[in-house]
Amino acid sequence: MEKKETIILAFESSCDETSVAVVKNGNEILSNIVATQIKSHQRFGGVVPEVASRHHIEQINYCIEDAMKEAQVTFEDISAVAVTFGPGLVGALLVGVAAAKAIAFAHNLPLIPVNHMAGHIYAANFASEIKFPALALLVSGGHTELVYMPKENVFQIIGETRDDAAGEAFDKVGRVMGMKYPAGKEIDQLAASGKDTFNFPRAMEKEDNYDFSFSGLKSAFINTVHHASQVGEELNKADLAASFEQSVVDVLSAKTKKALQNFNVKQLILAGGVAANQGLRKQLDIDLAEFDNIELVKAPLNLCGDNAAMIGAAGYVGYKHQNFADMSLNAEPSLEFDWINE
Ligand code: KG4
Ligand code: ZN
Repeated sequence: MEKKETIILAFESSCDETSVAVVKNGNEILSNIVATQIKSHQRFGGVVPEVASRHHIEQINYCIEDAMKEAQVTFEDISAVAVTFGPGLVGALLVGVAAAKAIAFAHNLPLIPVNHMAGHIYAANFASEIKFPALALLVSGGHTELVYMPKENVFQIIGETRDDAAGEAFDKVGRVMGMKYPAGKEIDQLAASGKDTFNFPRAMEKEDNYDFSFSGLKSAFINTVHHASQVGEELNKADLAASFEQSVVDVLSAKTKKALQNFNVKQLILAGGVAANQGLRKQLDIDLAEFDNIELVKAPLNLCGDNAAMIGAAGYVGYKHQNFADMSLNAEPSLEFDWINE
């Protein structure tokens, strides 16, 4: 393999997927191994941090081997090592950080620290090259935010959830409906055959800011289900799912449109686990038809959830900007984007 190419070995272990990828020039996936632990956490109804760390340790070396083998590269071919160092579960993050540091040290390679949320945004780079200025609607299990990117490597959070993240609301509501964790996909599938008959609240939809709130919706949903079970009324599950999803989608769509009206951007990027939501993808297609010259870039469906390929894509930007860490790199569970003024 020619050395001119930038080949990044990337690590992701912030939550419940152990993932190692080999990414060429920030936009070509040579391999993307994802070992999911979901089954181990399902019986607890959520991710158990200690269980997650143990699984990461068991899996990480196999993931490295498989990723290198599938990509047909050796350590000689690697230009740099990129790793998620936050936000996430500290014990989970530490496994990826330790593995990345060990490889960078042993092979004398630059070490690139990557913010997990920047990684989610850069998953979109595999669909279409990210162009600036851009706005990202970032919706995952832990975060819901609108991020303005005036230029490469600058991330400004202009709005975010004041309570639950969108994915968290999907998961909590799913639990009440007797679904397995994480419930987002199942609710999405069920919603496709239902109608918005319950008309749940659209919190903060009309407020003059870019923030979100989903806890009121969650409570309204739970109250509706509990009340029905107390009076022995059978509710239509598909309609419940569709009503909940429509409420989330309407609020995300309203605030995103408001931001698009006020920020002059070339692209809207949709990323994060909840970006796989079909209702949301369709709604943004409709919304963007109102905006001339703004391209909608949706993270590919198979790269919306946590994976190391997205870390490799974001790591490539860090590589270009020589944003390197030394061996003192530590996990930062509460890592946030630094607000950099232009
Ligand atoms: O980004 P991600 O994989 O992990 C975090 O960084 O949080 O997001 C996981 C979240 C879960 O809450 C899951 O229920 C949700 O994404 N999710 C969905 C869909 N697929 C996954 N939510 C709604 N619709 C989907 N199709
Ligand atoms: Zn994530």
